[in-house]
Amino acid sequence: MAEPFFTMRWEDRHLVLVDQTKLPQEEVYLVCRDHRMVAEAIRRLAVRGAPAIGVAAAFGVVLGAEEIVRKKNDLVTGLEEVFTLLAATRPTAVNLFWALARMRKVVRAQQGSAPDQLVGALEAEALRIYQADIETNRRLGRQGAALLPDGATVLTICNAGALATVAYGTALAVIRAAVEAGKRIAVVACETRPLLQGARLTTWELKKDGIPVTLITDQTAGYLMQQGKVSAVLTGADRIAANGDVVNKIGTYTLAVLATAHDLPFYVAAPTSTIDLTQPDGKGIPIEERAAEEVTMFGGKQIAPDGVQVYNPAFDLTPARLIDAIITEEEVFWGEAGKYSLRDRLSKASN
Ligand code: MRU
Repeated sequence: MAEPFFTMRWEDRHLVLVDQTKLPQEEVYLVCRDHRMVAEAIRRLAVRGAPAIGVAAAFGVVLGAEEIVRKKNDLVTGLEEVFTLLAATRPTAVNLFWALARMRKVVRAQQGSAPDQLVGALEAEALRIYQADIETNRRLGRQGAALLPDGATVLTICNAGALATVAYGTALAVIRAAVEAGKRIAVVACETRPLLQGARLTTWELKKDGIPVTLITDQTAGYLMQQGKVSAVLTGADRIAANGDVVNKIGTYTLAVLATAHDLPFYVAAPTSTIDLTQPDGKGIPIEERAAEEVTMFGGKQIAPDGVQVYNPAFDLTPARLIDAIITEEEVFWGEAGKYSLRDRLSKASN
């Protein structure tokens, strides 16, 4: 396998990100020098994928705090603005709010300390979140690798790979770990309309690693299953409710229904930071709706009539009953008769 790829790095107190809107044609790096640049990068999907959004936002807080201190502005109101701006970038991936909550905790703990000390403590926390993401994904990969038999063909959607995290990925971590364990695994990547994360990103990173990948249009998935050419479906998640309902890239629900119809296992891989125990089920999870132009334009060209009405949700909800297992770094949660209680089982796991 190729050298591990890092989606972002903290260098000279700047956040350096690969601009994912330019991949695969160009590997261009964005240097974020303030929290506004980080927020903009998240909003326009230059950095994307639930875990990566959370890590980037944590560094956004560091950059915001540094600027406030440098300009000698009021820390309390200034930081509030930084948190508000970053929290407003994307509503669905809970890792964003999880990371911001961790940064807020540091601010509270440092109340009354010198401004430079606060900035140092925030930087240390962001680096911990960064490092933990890499280790978590490795553990998650090892937890899930046993679920994939030698010779399996795994169908996935969007990009839940290294690019959606700091490194290694979530769904693709499971595939990478299985390959590292000596299994022959082939991947089928759904192109993932409208922003084509599957076509542009998943294929790019799997090709780099030498893992066989076949790109299909989203609507080819059912036909491929009907022909017996898929062994399992494996996706990431943007938010998982306490009952095991999963919100992930639009089209995930369709794949879960198809997997059930073809008696194929449907797995979700995500770190525990993607689990939101404040949501009893998926119905209350906010689903981001994005601009109509993402659907009406293709390759820079308008493909639909002027003014056509568009519905463009970025995510959908897959009920727990359609999910065979949720793979986390802590353990694999198996659906029992279609019912999960992650709340009970997670608290047991953390005891
Ligand atoms: O809109 P995106 O590209 O941020 O959506 C990403 C996904 O849906 C991923 O599957 C999810 O964030 C998990 S990434 C490890």
